[in-house]
Amino acid sequence: MSISCPIDLNKAALRTEISNVYGRVAAAPEGDFHFHRGPAYAAEFLGYDAVELGRLPAACTASFAGIANPLAIGSIHAGETVVDIGCGMGMDLLLAASRVGAEGKAIGVDMTEAMVEGARASAAACGLSQVEVRKGDATALPVETGSADVVISNGVLNLVPEKELAFQEIVRILKPGGRLYLGDIAVDAPFTEEVRSNVDLWVA
Ligand SMILES: C[S@@+](CC[C@H](N)C(=O)[O-])C[C@H]1O[C@@H](n2cnc3c(N)ncnc32)[C@H](O)[C@@H]1O
Repeated sequence: MSISCPIDLNKAALRTEISNVYGRVAAAPEGDFHFHRGPAYAAEFLGYDAVELGRLPAACTASFAGIANPLAIGSIHAGETVVDIGCGMGMDLLLAASRVGAEGKAIGVDMTEAMVEGARASAAACGLSQVEVRKGDATALPVETGSADVVISNGVLNLVPEKELAFQEIVRILKPGGRLYLGDIAVDAPFTEEVRSNVDLWVA
């Protein structure tokens, strides 16, 4: 199975559009979007613990826009370093931070400024000093080589056209024997060239 579809796509326009859409999610998550959001969706459909979500800042959980629960895939241990690629407002990131504890590290990366600011604010509101949020792209992670015990990501790689590069980056930052807990979207039928090169359809 191929994970990429080489395509003549305006990648800069796609990233601008993605940042616009997710900037709006950060500012007004109750707005009109085609995808599900928020803590009730996360608890009811994705198996998150509603009590645990209730301890996080409302702004953080309201902007949750993931498609699965990567933290349910495997364990995260105290003292580990976790990197969340496309962390959004940081719901998974803060949950991971509570698992690694004060001796560990939870690093979030997102390319949308409003998401980065929101995740930082949520971490500060929770007093989680082990959280660091860095602005950056999944294809050039601002993370040291061989530094992560666990990489998580939720609903992000489907938005990245350069999928091989994104996976190379995951492999680069993981320690030997590190784990990837990935929640994302896959299709089992090919899209036409016209569909794949349509920026609106990538984010719509
Ligand atoms: C569907 S949202 C999911 C956010 C978060 N993982 C969650 O579960 O709420 C997608 C996020 O990925 C980010 N994103 C999309 N493409 C990215 C890329 N190439 N590099 C870094 N972040 C990206 C967006 O800014 C947005 O915050």
